[in-house]
Amino acid sequence: MKIKVCVGSSCHLKGAPAVITAFQEAISRQPSEHAELELGGCFCQDHCQEGVVVRVDGRLYTNVTPDMAESLLKEGVEPGE
Ligand code: FES
Repeated sequence: MKIKVCVGSSCHLKGAPAVITAFQEAISRQPSEHAELELGGCFCQDHCQEGVVVRVDGRLYTNVTPDMAESLLKEGVEPGE
């Protein structure tokens, strides 16, 4: 599972660093069988008005806040639940 947080200037100003920290913490709480989780940054996704923008396995999520990290992670790890 690949999580990419937009680190473009608009998303950065809207709190991307805090979102990245929240994902790091959420990932550290995951059981080890989900070790294939990959967290990284990406360039502007052309949704600057809706930042912070996050892609989870290519799916685009907008207006992401730190408190959404845990649920986005669960959604990706356990699709459909
Ligand atoms: S800066 Fe994140 S979508 Fe443009």
